[in-house]
Amino acid sequence: MKLLIMGRPGAGKGTQAENIVNYYHIPHISTGDMFRAAIKNKTKLGLEASSYMEKGELVPDSLTTNIVCERLQEPDCKDGFLLDGFPRNISQAEALDKFLSDKGICLDAVLDINVPASILIDRMVGRRVCKNCGATYHVEFNKPQVEGVCDKCGSPLVQRADDTYDTAKNRLDVYDQNTAPLLAYYEAKNLLKTVDGNQDFAKVFADIKNVLSK
Ligand code: AP5
Ligand code: MG
Repeated sequence: MKLLIMGRPGAGKGTQAENIVNYYHIPHISTGDMFRAAIKNKTKLGLEASSYMEKGELVPDSLTTNIVCERLQEPDCKDGFLLDGFPRNISQAEALDKFLSDKGICLDAVLDINVPASILIDRMVGRRVCKNCGATYHVEFNKPQVEGVCDKCGSPLVQRADDTYDTAKNRLDVYDQNTAPLLAYYEAKNLLKTVDGNQDFAKVFADIKNVLSK
């Protein structure tokens, strides 16, 4: 299965990506996670990306497209992959199309997790992530068993640097200006499958499996 997962910031891409990759046995390629790992490891890429991410702006295409194309050439992507957070604008989508067509690869579907913008600030500001394994929680909608501690590995939970109110709001604006036009782009290619992401976690995943089975 060769998939893209799209949706506004906080729509549940990362949350559902975990279910999808376990179910289809494919790697999860999240550009946001790759940039956060680069920042943690203090690499050159991390230093360059952090100034954009802190403000909720897009990291330049020249940095982003390369890391995705390199990752897609690794052996574990041969039989499928789930791209999360890429492409994020028309120019990235065109670069991805070119890369895939040069390799003779076709996408199976583009999933759009649709959630109204009005509820997403609360989802982002209340999100907590494990410092060690990256597992995602929410202070209200998806609480860990012990407050502030990861259920999976026992490490502390922290807030993402871009999950402040102002940055979350800017990320939603950046999505409207840059990323929303991709929905029509993939609809025109007959790849777009939309799922209502404003439902219980399990129901969202059930709907994803249902649309992907068609
Ligand atoms: P990225 O990491 O991709 O962030 P994003 O698109 O803003 O999306 P999020 O990760 O915030 O949300 P999500 O949809 O994964 O939601 P989640 O599952 O965590 O990008 C970050 C930054 O990196 C960008 O701003 C940019 O600077 C840079 N970047 C990345 N890719 C780039 C690219 N291609 N080009 C340029 N720059 C790029 O869920 C959110 C919360 O809601 C959680 O707390 C969760 O528990 C909760 N939740 C999930 N589902 C539900 C539900 N059904 N009901 C209730 N709560 C729920
Ligand atoms: Mg995410």
